Amino acid sequence: VPELSVTASTGVYPVTIEAGLIGRLPDRLREIAGPSRVLVMGDSNTFPRFGRDLAEALGASSWAVPAGESSKSWEALEEGCRQCLEAGLDRGSTVVAIGGGVVGDLAGVIAALYLRGIRLVHVPTTLLAMVDSSIGGKAAIDLPQGKNLVGVFKPPEAVYIDPELLTDLPDREYRSGLAEVLKYSMIADEQLYDSLLANRQKMLEKDMDLLTDVVTRCCAIKAGVVTRDEKEKGERAILNYGHTFGHALEAATGYARLTHGEAIGVGMAVAADVGVAMGVTPAGVSASQAELLSAYGLPQSAPGLATVAETLALTSRDKKNRGGATPWVLLDRLGHATPGHSVDPEVLERAAGRALGSGEAG
Ligand code: GLY
Repeated sequence: VPELSVTASTGVYPVTIEAGLIGRLPDRLREIAGPSRVLVMGDSNTFPRFGRDLAEALGASSWAVPAGESSKSWEALEEGCRQCLEAGLDRGSTVVAIGGGVVGDLAGVIAALYLRGIRLVHVPTTLLAMVDSSIGGKAAIDLPQGKNLVGVFKPPEAVYIDPELLTDLPDREYRSGLAEVLKYSMIADEQLYDSLLANRQKMLEKDMDLLTDVVTRCCAIKAGVVTRDEKEKGERAILNYGHTFGHALEAATGYARLTHGEAIGVGMAVAADVGVAMGVTPAGVSASQAELLSAYGLPQSAPGLATVAETLALTSRDKKNRGGATPWVLLDRLGHATPGHSVDPEVLERAAGRALGSGEAG
């Protein structure tokens, strides 16, 4: 059974990846929780499917939030802390987050703040949460002005990943998570690129052996990056590949037209285009990326969905910005990216113009 580990400022935590692991969770969690109370937290989709049985098996309290981004709010944070109090959670207690990125983020902030911090365990149920958000300790809620603007680093005690939970994940959500998987191959793993291209059909059919292997490789990449650079002083920024333009496009389209993964597909295409224009990315690498994105049916442009001016203005509000400049992550070869590139405004306008279908600058 693949077990990875992440070294955080608070200690080392394991990331276990195993098909069927959910059935063995009560024993694992009892070991972590000890005698203190546990709160199992899910959302209106994940709680009935996985959370309720787990809470019953553990004799734990439980809480389900409405599914969706709106649960990453101050109100939900306050309500969650009250739930912890009412359930009798003490300083030795544990919150178990069973769900996708929203549940994991909210649970992380609650577990960091309630009684100045209690234990947290992640049981991710979406592909995105498995390969990205459950590892690395970032947790945040949203403000009306933007996503993830209020947050903490809250490393978990453990991350338990059961790829079988993906079996009935809705197709669009699965593909959305696949965008992050493709991203890992482009920024960090040429062999993963080859495997994803060769095994497209099996990946889309969720072949469990292949999927477990791919999830494990992605988690290993993320675990390595966040161990080397927990607080994003340097290398961790490469995980943001495709996200500078992608996040801006999601915001410009009101988080309604594109899934996160679809926006990241477009963002990766723009980043490759920018990289080629800046002389950082070889044209062949950009072509290889385009082949992979289209093999998985991810969009590489979003004609007419937003204006160049608005989308580029939103990229300059990115959290990664320092002193006004937006640093770009660019590929320098297949399976390798470097952060911190400053990019000519005209290059950005041309690349954004191509992606948004206006065909020319402005
Ligand atoms: N999802 C990007 C990071 O964890 O840094």
